[in-house]
Amino acid sequence: MAKIIPVATFDCVVFGATGDLTLRKLLPALYYRFRDGQMPPESKVIAAARSKLSDDDYRKRATKALAEHVARDDLDPEVADRFCAQLCYVRLDATKAGDAGWGALERMLDPKRVRVFYLATSPNLYGPICGNIGGHQLVTEDSRVVLEKPIGHDLASAREINDQVGAVFTEPQIFRIDHYLGKETVQNLMALRFANTIFERLWNADVIDHVQITVAETVGVEQRGGYYDGTGALRDMVQNHILQLLCLIAMEPPVSLEADRVRDEKLKVLRALRPVASHEVATLTVRGQYAQGAIDGQPVPSYIDDLNDQEKEPQESSATETFVAVKADVRTWRWANVPFYLRTGKRLPKKVSEIVIQYRAPPFSIFPPDAADWSPNKLIIRLQPEEGMKLEMMTKDPGPGGLRLSRTALDIRFEKTFGMRFPDAYERLVMDVVRGNATLFMRRDEVEAAWAWVEPILEAWATRPDQPRPYPAGSWGPTSAIALIERDGRTWHEEVG
Ligand code: BG6
Repeated sequence: MAKIIPVATFDCVVFGATGDLTLRKLLPALYYRFRDGQMPPESKVIAAARSKLSDDDYRKRATKALAEHVARDDLDPEVADRFCAQLCYVRLDATKAGDAGWGALERMLDPKRVRVFYLATSPNLYGPICGNIGGHQLVTEDSRVVLEKPIGHDLASAREINDQVGAVFTEPQIFRIDHYLGKETVQNLMALRFANTIFERLWNADVIDHVQITVAETVGVEQRGGYYDGTGALRDMVQNHILQLLCLIAMEPPVSLEADRVRDEKLKVLRALRPVASHEVATLTVRGQYAQGAIDGQPVPSYIDDLNDQEKEPQESSATETFVAVKADVRTWRWANVPFYLRTGKRLPKKVSEIVIQYRAPPFSIFPPDAADWSPNKLIIRLQPEEGMKLEMMTKDPGPGGLRLSRTALDIRFEKTFGMRFPDAYERLVMDVVRGNATLFMRRDEVEAAWAWVEPILEAWATRPDQPRPYPAGSWGPTSAIALIERDGRTWHEEVG
């Protein structure tokens, strides 16, 4: 295991500290980093929210959150107590400049430490909160602000948020999280491509037929109906996570791992995406919404039923997509005529995130036509679960009796190979924030370029008479998603679909 080097002592102010993200992701991530000796014990996590709570009340909530969200074997009650002792609470309506909590917060901060403002709030509060942080002169040279996705709802709102945050923090101080970039296997994409000679030489239109990116979930909208119904899968998953994966697959080799060099290359990919014209939306995109169905033999309600479970005002229908498939085209020399098929959805049969690089068939066969069920090489990169990589290839069936070929695979399972726990994305990302390393965070121009590509699709959908196609929960989306790829004589990777 790599040696763990502690980061600098920090003060981390978490806005939205009683919210789901903080309790489910952020505190467990910090706990692990504390347990492993990476978070210095003098560091302070200052939880800020509007509820009236004492330090002790908040620590109790944190202890409960750790019990729920840290794996049982990893939770050491004595370490958890020491970790929680480093949490303190400030009652604050961060959108109000005159709130007395700002003074209390200022007194808790040490001007000599790295200072992190973590905004685990709704994005429409990013501008006002940053305005108040600036107004109270809390930004030191060693400060950073962390913004969760989604940055805005469309290009205009993203620009507005970026302007508001940028009026208080410099771009290098702004860390826009896309938690997919913190996943071990996503970082491994860079190792795969740039630490090996064999792949990068074969990473282009000469040998690759097409690429598939699938991010499938079994969960529905969970408790986030209010947010999700105004958002949909294209904004929630494609604009950020899936386009970031596409960038890492499609980008040219950066000259170094320095944040801006990597981000420059990703930006070029986003700018090379061919815009989907409104008349092409019906052929290049599919949107779906889950209907009643079953997953793992268990009945599952429809999207509308899930939504109405949470909403005070029941609604009869919704035009929000919970599934999307898109055929994307990266217009560069390297990727000419190599389609990228992207799909994501909720209530699909299993949780799996996978990238499939489908190679072309050999140009000529010396084997008899009945020697095999031909299957051109495929590189399958499994992001989750069972993280790993599989290279499918044709080999000779052993034994006498003619020359028969069949498909076999070089198969690496990371957990088996490394025999260690895979840290959650947030663990790495939060430590990178403290270190000031922005390589795995999105720069302003990237976020805006991603919105610029997604926006025409959203606009075309909004003006079309058709609605998202229903698909039974537990299926792989509407049949039109299968047609999207089969029209081109290709199929979704069989082990997924
Ligand atoms: C979030 C989306 O960004 O990613 C959620 O808002 C989604 O809707 C989640 O469920 C998926 O993340 P993961 O890490 O479970 O694949």
